[in-house]
Amino acid sequence: MNERETWATRAGFILAAVGSAVGLGNIWQFPFKTAQFGGASFLIVYVIAALGIGLPAILAEFVIGRRSNLNTISAFEKLGHKNWRFVGALGLFTGFWILSYYSVVGGWVLRYIGGSLTGAYFGAPAEYFGQISAGMDALALHAVFMALVVVIVAAGIEDGIEKATKLMVPSIIVILGALAIFAFTLPGASEGYAYFLSPDFDALFANLGDIVPFAVGQAFFSLSLGMGAMITYASYIDGDQSLFGDGITIVFLNSFVGILAGLVVLPLLFAQGIDPNTSGAGAVFISVAGAFANIPGGQAIGLIFFLVVLIAALSSAISLLEVVVSWAIDNYDVTRPQMAILLGGVIFLLGVPSALDTAWLGWFDTLAYKFFLPVGVLGILIFVAWVYGAPALDEVMKGSGLGEGVGLTWLWLARTLVIVAVVATLVLGFQTLFLGESPAIIPPI
Ligand code: TRP
Repeated sequence: MNERETWATRAGFILAAVGSAVGLGNIWQFPFKTAQFGGASFLIVYVIAALGIGLPAILAEFVIGRRSNLNTISAFEKLGHKNWRFVGALGLFTGFWILSYYSVVGGWVLRYIGGSLTGAYFGAPAEYFGQISAGMDALALHAVFMALVVVIVAAGIEDGIEKATKLMVPSIIVILGALAIFAFTLPGASEGYAYFLSPDFDALFANLGDIVPFAVGQAFFSLSLGMGAMITYASYIDGDQSLFGDGITIVFLNSFVGILAGLVVLPLLFAQGIDPNTSGAGAVFISVAGAFANIPGGQAIGLIFFLVVLIAALSSAISLLEVVVSWAIDNYDVTRPQMAILLGGVIFLLGVPSALDTAWLGWFDTLAYKFFLPVGVLGILIFVAWVYGAPALDEVMKGSGLGEGVGLTWLWLARTLVIVAVVATLVLGFQTLFLGESPAIIPPI
């Protein structure tokens, strides 16, 4: 059995978790959905979902991870509830599932970095996207992206993930901030802000049935909840830091980056007179890419933009691979690099259909988003709040410096309202799943 690693510092853990959270979900989906669902009024719903449901759920994952210091399957056994290992197993499966197509999209991003250098997508962005998003090209770049993920994870917790994310997360924030300032200087930018942020309560209430499950689902996906990523990361914590403090920091930074991305993308589109509503899910790769063609220095700006998307995607993808690698090395006499390569290879193969056909990719995503993740969150919540109970309260209080009332509020929220909200999300998600509508993170183009 291998000696188990730990994070070198508390900040290292927080940055790794923020790196996991901040990803394609924030830059791609969040700004457009916010604009479409009522701007500032949607933000209120999202923040309620992230704080009211996301935060209790992330704390539940932290509790399992820190208490057990083990991967998402063995953790349940260590905590004395062997029968609940299925929740961890589902998470492991979801990790394979999500990373398989996430890596394909990561490959597109790599391709757009090259395309910015050569200006390849400038003339006809939609055609370009059509050509590169599926087929042998997409497959090759899916392999390259997976290889990058494997290299970081193979290097370990402290030397790989912690070092990488310590560099990546601040870069994401600084570069996006700089791009937001640049976007501010573009003529027409103010229309972008108006579109992004003006509260539209009519739109909010008219679509509440769509918006609430979306806000909750987005909070889960965006905070990397429901498949053990946060359990696994928290299992490498060594010490009694405040889990409440860490959780709030992560939720805050994750929302902040989503808003920052909106302040980049939407002014950019409006400055070019592009209506974000017509661009749909291909927005980043078609409309935003198209906008670069016409702005001064567009090639350089495009390059920087896709670089930051790449960094965000990579720092999320490593958390998905770490979940499965962690399980393998906790349980078998194998080395981390061996397992990173082997499991990375398996995930690459699972992603082949998505690389060859975007309809597969959309289907993989929809199922993850509407089914696997909410079910995973539900399992984790029921376990922590109802089955594990008192020791969970003890663990969440450790090092928090807060009164017991705060912990009890968390426990009872997790036992009641949060579970009800997750079930409601699942039911509504199921309805749209069967009605054939597909408001997924990455729907087929
Ligand atoms: N949160 C990431 C994003 O927004 C994606 C991600 C990484 C994820 N790890 C996860 C989603 C675990 C669900 C579960 O892009």
